[in-house]
Amino acid sequence: MARTERMAQNPLRSFLKAGLLALPLLTGVPVGALADEEALKIIDREKLTDFVQQDCGSCHGLTLEGGLGGPILPENLEHMDADVIQEVILGGLPGTAMPPWRGFLNETEAAFIAEGLKTGAFK
Ligand code: HEC
Repeated sequence: MARTERMAQNPLRSFLKAGLLALPLLTGVPVGALADEEALKIIDREKLTDFVQQDCGSCHGLTLEGGLGGPILPENLEHMDADVIQEVILGGLPGTAMPPWRGFLNETEAAFIAEGLKTGAFK
């Protein structure tokens, strides 16, 4: 009895599983398993630069010289390594207006932004 039930479920299970596995391929959305280096090739640098200037700029100023959020130019970020900045971007700063961007940005994108802030690439 239990055996026949299991067999009856199997085709549906494998169908669902195949569908889930195929989804990222169909939508072109990178999955977590993707190596960072692969992900770097497919992030849209221009779009991210726009994003930093518009979205981050809405608080930190269009030229990142500060507004509601403090200035985030290279000279203001000397006390933070790029990986710490990446964490701040992804996790936000609890107790301040700095929101977490996890869900909008993946790790690679946040790392790209953190590097760019350190080097002044978005000015
Ligand atoms: C809703 C407003 C708001 C937005 C949008 C925002 N921030 Fe912030 N951010 C803050 C506030 C407030 C702080 C903490 C206090 C401060 O730095 O003046 C902060 C702090 C930071 C810090 C730490 C600065 C330091 O010296 O400790 C970094 C780095 C930073 N934000 C980067 C970003 C990036 C990158 C984005 C876009 C992905 C962004 N922020 C979007 C408000 C914002």
